[in-house]
Amino acid sequence: MSTEIIRIFDTTLRDGEQSPGCSMNLSEKLALARQLERLGVDVIEAGFPIASEGDFESVRAVAEEVRGTIVCGLARTGREDIERAARALERAAKPRIHTFIATSDIHLQHKLRMSRERVLEEVGRAVRQARSFVDDVEFSAEDATRSDWEYLVEVCNVAIGAGASTLNLPDTVGYTSPEEYAALIRHLRECVRGAENVVFSVHCHNDLGLAVANSLAAVRAGARQIECTVNGIGERAGNTAMEECVMAMKTRPDVFAGLDTRIRTSEIYPSSRLLSSIIGVPVQPNKAVVGDNAFAHEAGIHQDGVLKAAITYEIMTPQSIGRPSNELVLGKHSGRHAFRERLQELGFALEGEEFQRAFQRFKDLADKKKAIYNEDLEAIVADSVIASDDRFVLGDVCIVSGSFGIPNATVELAVDGVPRKATEFGVGPVDALFKVIASLTETKSELLRYQVNAITGGMDAQGEVSVTVSEGGRKVIGHGAHTDVLVASAKAYVHALNKLEWHKRRHAIAEPKGI
Ligand code: KIV
Ligand code: ZN
Repeated sequence: MSTEIIRIFDTTLRDGEQSPGCSMNLSEKLALARQLERLGVDVIEAGFPIASEGDFESVRAVAEEVRGTIVCGLARTGREDIERAARALERAAKPRIHTFIATSDIHLQHKLRMSRERVLEEVGRAVRQARSFVDDVEFSAEDATRSDWEYLVEVCNVAIGAGASTLNLPDTVGYTSPEEYAALIRHLRECVRGAENVVFSVHCHNDLGLAVANSLAAVRAGARQIECTVNGIGERAGNTAMEECVMAMKTRPDVFAGLDTRIRTSEIYPSSRLLSSIIGVPVQPNKAVVGDNAFAHEAGIHQDGVLKAAITYEIMTPQSIGRPSNELVLGKHSGRHAFRERLQELGFALEGEEFQRAFQRFKDLADKKKAIYNEDLEAIVADSVIASDDRFVLGDVCIVSGSFGIPNATVELAVDGVPRKATEFGVGPVDALFKVIASLTETKSELLRYQVNAITGGMDAQGEVSVTVSEGGRKVIGHGAHTDVLVASAKAYVHALNKLEWHKRRHAIAEPKGI
C-alpha cells in the first residue's frame, strides 16, 4: 500500500503566539522557525502581517530565512490584509497566503453583520486577489463546525472556483466531537465540486480537550492537513498538539493505515523544550509525549515490568522523540567541539555570535557548577538566542541582604547601548533589585507573579526564575537562570521588560478582531 502524507501545518508562531504569555520577539521567532524546519513541518504559519509592524517583520524575516518549507501569512478577506500578507511573503521561496472569513450564522449576524451572499462574494474576491500574488492559497471558513453544512459546501465551491488549493475547516471554539467532525469532512469531500483536487485541512481548539481526537478523526475521514502547535499552545485552552497527533499516527500504524507525516520525530522533544524555554511557559508534567512524567514509571509493578521488557508499559520510546537521558553531559574541561555536538544532539544549531555567547555562558557556568545537565544547556541556549535585539542589557548585579541592615541592590544595565548604574533599597532583596531595574529602565510595569524553580537536582543547581509582569494591559512572562537566584531574578525581570519593549515597538496598523 502506498503511503499518503498528512501535512503538518504549524501555527505556533501565529495562533500559538497570540495566546496570553506566549508572545515572542523577532529573534525568538526566528530561532523557533529554524527548529520547525529541522522538525520537518510542511508549513510554518509565521504570523498575521496586518496585525502589527512586528508581525509583518516576523513573517518577512521567517520567509527570508526558511527556504525549504512553505511559509504562510494569515489575512482576513480585506484587500489591505491580503496585500500586506503578500508583501511580507515577497521574498519567500515557498509562499502561501492563508485567508479566512467566518461562515457560521452566529458570526455573520453578531460579528461581521454580513449576509451569507456577501460572505460568498468576499471569499471569491479574496482568494482571487491572493492568487494574483501567489500560487498557493489556503482558505479557512472560520467557525466551520457551527456553520450550516450546505452553506459550507457553497463556500468551498466558491473558494475552489477562485483558486484555493487548501480548504481549512476550523473548529474555532473547540465545540465539535470526533464523530461529528469526521462526518463533516466526509460530507464536504462528497459534495464539494473539485474536492478531489484540493487538500482538506483541520484546525482545532482544545476547549473541551478534544482537539487531538477531533483532528485525528478528521484525518481518518479524509483530511490531509492538520493545523497544530508545539506543546498545544494557543488561544484559550490551546490548539491541537503537534506531538500528540504525530506520535499517535506513528504508534498506531494499524489505525492510521497508509498514513504518515514528514516529521522527524527525534526533533519533537527539542522543539518542545526550545519553545518552552523561549516563552517561559513550562510544559505540564503529565502532558502526553513531552511532559516530564510522560516516560516516568513510578509504580513498583510498572517499574518491574519495564525492567523485564519495556514493551510491557511503554508504547513508544523516549529516544523516538529525541528525549535524551538526564545524565551528566558536560563539565568544565569540555571544549567547544563537545559543547557544539551536545547542543546539536539536543536539537540546537547555534552559529556565529549566538554560539560564542552560549559557549562563554557555558564556561562561566562550568566554573561554578561541576555537572552541566541538558536542562542547564537549554537555559544557556534560551539566554543566548534571545539577546540580539534587546533594548536593555543587564550587566553586573550586587545584592546585599540578610537578617540585619536594609536590603539593597546595585545594578549595571545598558539602555540602548548606554551604560547606567544605580542602587536602591527595598523591603527585601527582590524588591530592591526590581526597584533599581525599574528605575534604570524608566519602566512602570506591575509584577504579577514571581516563581523560582531549581533547574536540576543538587545543591549547586541553577535557579530558574519566571516573572509575569504587565504594563498597559499587556502581560508578558520573563525568565532567567543562574546559580544565584537573585541574579536569575534580575535576568528574568529584564527579559520581561525587553518583551514589553518589543510590544511597544510593534505599532498596531489594525488590531485583528475575531480570531
Ligand atoms: O481558530 C480559527 O478559526 C483560526 C483561523 C484564523 C484559521 O485560527
Ligand atoms: Zn485558531
